[in-house]
Amino acid sequence: MRIGILTGGGDAPGLNGIIEAVGKSLITNQHEVVGIIDGFEGIFNQNARTLTLKDLYGLHNNAGTFIGTSNNCGTRGREKEFLKGYSQLKLDGLVVAGGDGTFSGLTPFKNEIPLIGVPKTIDNDLNGTDITFGYDTACSVVAEAVDALRSTADAHKRIIFVEVMGRTAGWIALGGGLASYSDIILVPERPFDKTELLKFIKEKKKQQRGLLCVVSEGAFAKGGAPEVAFTVENSPQKERYGGIAERLSSWAMTETRWESRHVVLGHLQRSKAPTTTDRFLTLAMGVEVSRMIQENDWGKAAVYKNGIVTRTPITELMKPAKLIAQDHRWIELAKQLGIFI
Ligand code: F6P
Repeated sequence: MRIGILTGGGDAPGLNGIIEAVGKSLITNQHEVVGIIDGFEGIFNQNARTLTLKDLYGLHNNAGTFIGTSNNCGTRGREKEFLKGYSQLKLDGLVVAGGDGTFSGLTPFKNEIPLIGVPKTIDNDLNGTDITFGYDTACSVVAEAVDALRSTADAHKRIIFVEVMGRTAGWIALGGGLASYSDIILVPERPFDKTELLKFIKEKKKQQRGLLCVVSEGAFAKGGAPEVAFTVENSPQKERYGGIAERLSSWAMTETRWESRHVVLGHLQRSKAPTTTDRFLTLAMGVEVSRMIQENDWGKAAVYKNGIVTRTPITELMKPAKLIAQDHRWIELAKQLGIFI
């Protein structure tokens, strides 16, 4: 078979691991693997090339994606063009590593193109899987940053607000914040009470030199809304959130007279080499994808459920974002540790 592999949407550490694992496994089993360049653009422009074992050698260690990606996942009004581009590539099927935007863009072709999906986002907010690759690496970046920042916060007796990614889901803030025992964790799923937050900070000022707050870019106070920093026209989710750490920092400094600073971790969270957990996840998912292809088991995705990599209908990945439930066990953990959440 001649199988295309495409990466769509924002990059996530582990994408290269998927390419290496799917590619190596298929080539070892005598199939041809074609890398589609720059996501959907490669289908529209028939920009693709056959990958060799030499291309794949050692890829897994690098963040980013060897074949490029694009946020432009729109196919509406261009369905015929997309199908024409796909058929000109003469593929027997397509492996897509993407997020909700990418899979929604593929919805019209689910009966026409043999598809296999791999859920991808650092945000960990995709349905159909317990975890997405890239998430563990993003949390490690957050935890490392908070641990490091605690030293300067303590040295100068300061609060530091650390803004992290995650859009409407607070998984990165919660995972990274817990792993670093952040004093405060603010997530979009739990709009915070400003009076309560102020009370907590004032109390902490009496007890410790520094204070760390991990705040999700989409977090907001009760009665408020997440602040849109700017919009990206070609993106399936146009809004980009941001600015909350800076605003909270100056507000807290004025209200508590505790000197404060803010740090935005931004795209650093997507740029580190994948952790061992993410490597193992992508390695196992990649091999599962290759098995599905060889068994002609199309229309499914390789996902992680109940401790193992398994298969689920690809339509599961097209459902709305998976947010943190109010009674999630990690919220309880944070409360038990005395973290403001
Ligand atoms: O969805 C992944 C993500 O990294 C979000 O956490 C973040 O808000 C967004 O992408 C940033 O997108 P861009 O790379 O277009 O700035």
